[in-house]
Amino acid sequence: MKLYLDTAVYEEIEQAVGWGVVDGVTTNPTLIAKAGHDHEEQVKRICQIIGNVSAECVSEKKDDMVVEGRRLASWHKNVIVKVPLTPDGLGAGKVLAGEGIRINVTLCFSVNQALLAAAIGAYIVSPFAGRLDDINEDGMRVVADIVSAYRQQEIKTKVLAASIRNPTHVTQAALAGADIATLPFAVLKQLFEHPLTAAGQKRFLEDYRQARAAVGSEKADGGARAQPEERSAYRKTEEAKPVQGQAREATAKR
Ligand code: G3P
Repeated sequence: MKLYLDTAVYEEIEQAVGWGVVDGVTTNPTLIAKAGHDHEEQVKRICQIIGNVSAECVSEKKDDMVVEGRRLASWHKNVIVKVPLTPDGLGAGKVLAGEGIRINVTLCFSVNQALLAAAIGAYIVSPFAGRLDDINEDGMRVVADIVSAYRQQEIKTKVLAASIRNPTHVTQAALAGADIATLPFAVLKQLFEHPLTAAGQKRFLEDYRQARAAVGSEKADGGARAQPEERSAYRKTEEAKPVQGQAREATAKR
């Protein structure tokens, strides 16, 4: 299961990209409004550092959404155009998918809706687990059922578990067989945490330093840390690397 970040805040995306654990970003009008930047400018900036960036249409009518979707897709090759699971949204998505634009159908809450998204050739369908939990339904059950229906029907549309609210949701999405889960930055950070990891790391470093001190090493870390010239050589090679993009995503399991 690939991990995407559910945010439009550049600094969060930049940090997560540095950790090497995310393959994409999902934005929506609420997240763009919260980030407080111009939509086009922000999406283009995000596309500079990561592939698979969902940008959502805000038009309501099919024809307007087609025009808007084409514009969003023209911003950068990494853009995936998000359309809502409405008759107009799917109608527009079908036209755009026919033009080779990758479509993410958002606001999906049932297996039947997911079948409609697959019918238009969507690249991704986004069931909102947390919002189903909010109304006393089992969001992850719906995600698992969509995965199961897609497998039985040999549907290639990727299932992206959205509206993730906590680390348990992430585990459940992976066990349900979701292709992707999109996480708020706070939830992504929580995935790293385990008290035994922190305690174990502290102990390893203390043992190492003590052993070095016992053999009389002048440097507390035994000279293992990167030296300034090594750091600058590393930064240069990192800056020269291309941004990950569609080619990498194409190797996903479906
Ligand atoms: O990816 C969809 C997500 O942004 C919705 O999350 O927490 O607002 O239900 P939430």
